Formats: sequence, C-alpha cells, structure tokens
Amino acid sequence: MFNKYYTKMKRSIFFSIFSIFLILSACRTKPDKSPYTITQNIIGDSCMVVAEHPLASKVGVKILKAGGNAIDAAIATQFALAVVHPRAGNIGGGGFMVVRMADGETAALDYREEAPSSAYRDMYLDSTETVIELLSKEGHLAVGVPGTVAGMEAAFQKFSQLKNWGQLLEPAIQLAENGFKITQPEATRLNKYKKQFFQQNETGVPFVIKGQWEMGDLLVQKDLAATLRRISEHGAKGFYEGETADLIVTEMKRGGGLITKEDLQNYEVRWRDPIISEYKNYRVITMPPSSSGGVALSQLLKMIEPFPLAQYGFHSAKSVHTIVEAERRVYADRSKFLGDSDFYPVPVDSLLDDDYLKIRMADFDISEATLSDSMGSGNFKDVESFETTHTSIVDAAGNAVAVTTTLNLNYGSKVIVAGGGFFLNDEMDDFSAKPGVPNYFGLIGAEANAIEPGKRMLSSMTPTIVEKDDDLFLVVGAPGGSTIITAVLQTILNVVEYGMPLDEAVEAPRFHHQWLPDQIKVEPTAIDTVERQILWDMGHQLKGVSRMALIKAVQVLPDGKLHGVGDPRNVDDHAEGY
Ligand code: DON
Repeated sequence: MFNKYYTKMKRSIFFSIFSIFLILSACRTKPDKSPYTITQNIIGDSCMVVAEHPLASKVGVKILKAGGNAIDAAIATQFALAVVHPRAGNIGGGGFMVVRMADGETAALDYREEAPSSAYRDMYLDSTETVIELLSKEGHLAVGVPGTVAGMEAAFQKFSQLKNWGQLLEPAIQLAENGFKITQPEATRLNKYKKQFFQQNETGVPFVIKGQWEMGDLLVQKDLAATLRRISEHGAKGFYEGETADLIVTEMKRGGGLITKEDLQNYEVRWRDPIISEYKNYRVITMPPSSSGGVALSQLLKMIEPFPLAQYGFHSAKSVHTIVEAERRVYADRSKFLGDSDFYPVPVDSLLDDDYLKIRMADFDISEATLSDSMGSGNFKDVESFETTHTSIVDAAGNAVAVTTTLNLNYGSKVIVAGGGFFLNDEMDDFSAKPGVPNYFGLIGAEANAIEPGKRMLSSMTPTIVEKDDDLFLVVGAPGGSTIITAVLQTILNVVEYGMPLDEAVEAPRFHHQWLPDQIKVEPTAIDTVERQILWDMGHQLKGVSRMALIKAVQVLPDGKLHGVGDPRNVDDHAEGY
C-alpha cells in the first residue's frame, strides 16, 4: 500500500520537475546571430546541398555548378567541413556514405575507423576489470585508425563525374590557408574545451588562443592547409603514407597511442550492399553494419508498419507507446547482435525477417509498457552537443548522397596531430569496453561489439535515402549519437505518416527510447501534458531533454523541385541550392 503511494508520489514529483523543465526550455532564448546568412528551409529547382556549415554547403554547390555530381559535391563538402567545422568534420575520423544514382544504382561506403592492430579486448579496464572512465574518450589511446580520406578517394574513384581530385580539395585548402570567421557554436566549444586541448597537446596549436574565442574571429589553419595539399597531390597516400603518416605516428608515440605506420597503410574502405527494405510504397536504402543505423531503422519501420499511427494521432500516447515499444526491442537487439560483420556473424537477414519482427512485437501490449530487462544499468547522459555531422545532397541529374561522418565526441580525442593541424577521433568509445557497461551514449554492447584488432566499432549513424514508388523521394541523416536512428525514423514518419512538409517534419519535437535506460527522452513540447500523464500511467518513465539530433534532409517534391531543410535546433545548419 505504502509502496504504491510512494511510487505515485515519486511519479508526480518527476512529472512536476519535468513540466518546469519544459516551461524553462520553451522560454530559452533564440540562438545568437551568425556571421553568415543562414537559410534552413529552401526550395531549389534542380540541386540541393544541406550541411552543417554555410561555407561547406556553398562549397558543395560550387562543385555542382562546376559540373560535378552529387558525389563530387559530397567529397568537397566533407573536406570543407574538416576545416570549418573542426569539432566533427574531419580527416582524422570516419563515416558512412549511402548513394543512389539517378538510374537507381545504389551503394553503401563504409569508411569507419578501425581498432589499431595492437588493440585488445580489455584495453580500457583496470586491474579490477573496471572501465577506466576517460581512456576511450580522450587522449591517444581513444583513437581508431582514421577512414575519412580513404573513403573520399574511394567515392571519387567509383562515382566522380568531375574527375578532378584537386578541384575538390581546393576550396578546403583555401579556407584553411586564408581562414574563415567562426560561428557562435564553434567559439563556445573552442572555449569550452581549451583545458582539454592543453592537456592533450603541446601549445601553439591554432585552436588555442590567449583569450576567449568570439563569433566572427578568424580561424587560420596553416598546418591543416599543408596536409590537405598533400592529400590533393597524392590522394589518400598523402594521408596514409609519407609526411602525414609520419606526423600521425610521431603524435601517437608522444602520447602513448597505438596507431602504427602499418595500421595506416593497411586501412581499407568497404563497399557494402546497402540495407534495402520496403515500408508501404516507400523503399528505404540505408547503411548496413558496421553501423547499426540501417538495421535498426529498417526493423523499426517494419515493426511499426501494421499500426495506424495517423489514426492514433501525432504524438498521442498511443502512437508514442507503439513507437517506443518497437524502439525498446530494436535497441535490445542492437546491444546483443550488432557489431562489425567482418568479425562477428551479425544476423542481418534474421533481424529483418518479417516473421521475426512479428514475433518480436507479439508481446506488445497497447495499454501497458513492457519493462526493459534490468540487466546492466544504462547510464544515459544528456547529449547536448552534436559532434557528428551529416550532409544530404541531390544534383541536377537526380543523383543523391547521404553522408554522415564523425570524430565521435566534440573534437574527438582532443588530440591534434602536431604539424598536421587536425584532430584525431575518439571512436574507440563506440566499442563495448566491457559487456553491460554503457558507452558515452548509454549504449550497451557485448561480444558482437567487443574490441579486436582491425575491427570497426559499432555506430548509430544512419545516412538514408528513401524512394517513393521507385523514384527518389528523401535524403536524410543526422548527428546525435544513439538518437540519430530515432530522429531519422521520426522525420520519415512525420512526412509519410503524418503528412508534414519537410520543414515541419524536421522541426517537430522528438522523443527517444533505447531499451536501457528504461525511459523515454522527450524534447520540450514533444508530447502534451495529458498524453504524458497517460504514458506515465501505462508505466513509462519520461525524461525531459533540451534537444536531440540535428537532421539535414532533402525531399523531392511532386513537381520535381527540391526542398532542402536544415535543423532549426542548430544555428549553423545551412541549405543551399538552385
Ligand atoms: O558512430 C556513432 O554512432 C557515434 N560515434 C556518433 C557520435 C555522434 O553522433 C555525436 N553526436 N552526438
């Protein structure tokens, strides 16, 4: 009796705190101005680039205007992002690219980082087998062998129309050489991480100044310009061999990191078959392992398909409950079964099998939350910074690219390659350091995602292209760690189920559940008060968060025009088209 009363009281205290949070969040001040003119919601006649920085989107459009296709534009945009968006855009990280050519050909490029050859399963555990908190997140031991430059070269070799590698690098070189005005979010983060930059590097790096960075300050990166020049001249060899490789290895030795010359030389991208699944009259083309994103997204869509969400109503308790129950099951599957398929037999076909998914939802009760298995306690932090970066592109011929790349957390490991001028990732944290112990994003893994030399750490990045009735319809993706998958899902559902125009679909507040911890994370105003109470009464736990994931998307409209949309959650998102 007392227990029941206590639980109710606890719920209503939670509920009151949550409501206050929502009111405060709703009152938050509008983002500061930018040194650039930002457009986040535009219609183009034939081409569109949506990226996380206005200068990067402009570089993409410049390449399209010069006769490049969507892949050329994506490559140039990625290199530009490595300069103007250094906390996520990178040459020292990795990522995934999904391509759909105008003739319907599809491809998925995996240029994810790999564990160095001397990495081993328990490398982040102390003598009591406890995970050493920061080791996989900051400093030289956190760094996986970078894949980005090899990825860009592979995309170029397979799909470039321009066939001029140097031309794709040149805008980035100029931006690094001559400098550019930093935006407010960049200034804020450069100031925030100053201490870590000092801890992980010797002084004199371009990212550390005497005073505080301010919006509009010029960031010049001479060392990075020289590195980009080497890549421009020698292709991927300008990174994985010669001077740049020497600089990386010297940096590793200085800080006790593991990456060797051989690790760099041996790095190879993987062309994979994209995951392609049907949802009503849509076809979803997305990323297979080593990302979990495509499997999870496809599972979610198939599990949700039988339920009349539109009839339930947008973010009604019933529709949130249905989606959450699917998410709970999918993230539980993720933690057990997903990892690098070159190292672990990931049962992709079984996970996407219609009968399996039906059985998986068979214990779903429309009126009551299923409690997540309480094994292992997810320790989900509020992810307030979004350090990955996504770009969506469609060119005049109708070729489409969705590309997501990352250093993992802000500025990755915070290690800057001395003399090379670029940050190295901290992607090793995406491995499961120990079964049942959550990573930064609260994600739990086991054997499938255990560390092994040369293995790729499991990702949540979900670059995705959707066809409608066999034609290109939507290009979408986002940064946001574990919330990427559910944000991409909700953007698609908002368009195809709730009939929203793309700008509303991206702006609409989101919610997220990832099995453990057993709670629904909810953006302000995502679920109204009455429906929230119904969800609590069903047995769900709700937790307010300020924002989740930053979608960048392009939709092909019925008249063939392109609707480009950046996420209003981020002042730097910029859609540019013509
Ligand atoms: O690959 C992944 O899933 C993560 N390293 C992505 C990190 C991310 O999105 C950071 N932003 N919140």
